[in-house]
Amino acid sequence: MRETWVVGAASNRFGKMSETGREAGTRVAAEAIQASGLEPKDIGYTFVSNCFGAAERQGHVGPLVNSGLGIPDVPSCTVESACSSSSAALHEAFVHVAGGFADAALVVGMEKLSHLDTLAATSYFTLGADCAYETKNGATFPGLYATLATAYRSVYRTTPEMFGAIAIKNHANGARNPNAHFQKEISMETYLGSPMIASPLRLYDCCPFSDGAAAVVVAAKEFVKQPVTEPLVIRASARSGSIMDMQDRPDLLGLPATRTAADAAFRQAHLGRRDIDFLEVHDCFTIAEALALEDLGFLPKGAGAGAALEGITARDGRLPVNPSGGLKAKGHPVSATGAAQVVEIFEQMNGRAAGREVPRAETALAHNVGATGGSCSVHIFSRR
Ligand SMILES: CC(C)(COP(=O)(O)OP(=O)(O)OC[C@H]1O[C@@H](n2cnc3c(N)ncnc32)[C@H](O)[C@@H]1OP(=O)(O)O)[C@@H](O)C(=O)NCCC(=O)NCCS
Repeated sequence: MRETWVVGAASNRFGKMSETGREAGTRVAAEAIQASGLEPKDIGYTFVSNCFGAAERQGHVGPLVNSGLGIPDVPSCTVESACSSSSAALHEAFVHVAGGFADAALVVGMEKLSHLDTLAATSYFTLGADCAYETKNGATFPGLYATLATAYRSVYRTTPEMFGAIAIKNHANGARNPNAHFQKEISMETYLGSPMIASPLRLYDCCPFSDGAAAVVVAAKEFVKQPVTEPLVIRASARSGSIMDMQDRPDLLGLPATRTAADAAFRQAHLGRRDIDFLEVHDCFTIAEALALEDLGFLPKGAGAGAALEGITARDGRLPVNPSGGLKAKGHPVSATGAAQVVEIFEQMNGRAAGREVPRAETALAHNVGATGGSCSVHIFSRR
């Protein structure tokens, strides 16, 4: 395998876009390529994610992005893996470049749903669940994650303040990220007073519906020669899966796909948990951040929920988590989310995260979950 780097990354501000998904995706792709010092003609393959393109009556976005970049002859394909789509696209790009099938590859994720109301957006999101067993019985993602939260609370001693502290931390980080959907801090009072969405999840336990686009350029070390930015070495690119329906899982106290993807990633990287300086994890709901810390192997079972309240996961804590603001505050434009986690790590390592820097960071991990964990990606990056 060839050593493979992230050499460029860019995203727009998440929230509500006036552009179409395709326009935003093409624009951030051009920005990521420019940041890499490469040229569009250097791209050997483009992997695009756009789960809900149908909401804009647009599929087959790869050739459109490539045409907009002036490289219509470059091959492309759409990678769909629910909320983990663009990290799955990154995995494909890594496999192509590390395996020698392309010298450089482009990953682009984009999503636009803000022209839809909450009911319609929720219906699109449930395409990522099992229609026959979950959606047809009325399950939505807030409902499914509320089930995970209920299971967790029934086994481990938790308080609402523990989950509130996760939301407060991520909003505080988002307030320092100019590309975050929500750029305002919240208090415990605001959290506790927010409306119930799906008990026990309150409004501030949930990520919002966001539009957004993010892009990443990966290239073989031997192809880049003179990097114009501090590249991220891709130390591991691991994917895993698990039984999709929650009713068929042996327990609801974690996401099995996170556990297996993390173990595979640490084996690939030849690193241990203690070697990681910060994490971008999939906190679509506050319970998801708690479970991620446990399933990734950073904290023992039952310790994830209280980590934010204890200050462990603060930017200056022992294990900084989601300095970008996470899905909770930076936002969750489904197909852009995995790529955007890499954008944050790239910005951090290049000293471009002013106000929310993780001091002296050399290594970072990105964790991106598809739906309730039917699929999962874990990537590990380090400085050269
Ligand atoms: C929580 C949720 C139901 C709220 O939707 P809603 O009740 O229709 O909220 P609205 O869009 O009407 O917004 C009402 C207000 O709450 C804010 N808001 C909406 N969602 C928010 C969130 N998740 N966190 C904080 N504030 C939020 C809006 O900005 C708006 O504020 P304003 O009145 O100051 O402008 C919706 O965001 C949701 O379903 N989120 C989860 C998405 C999801 O399932 N993703 C997949 C994960 S696997």
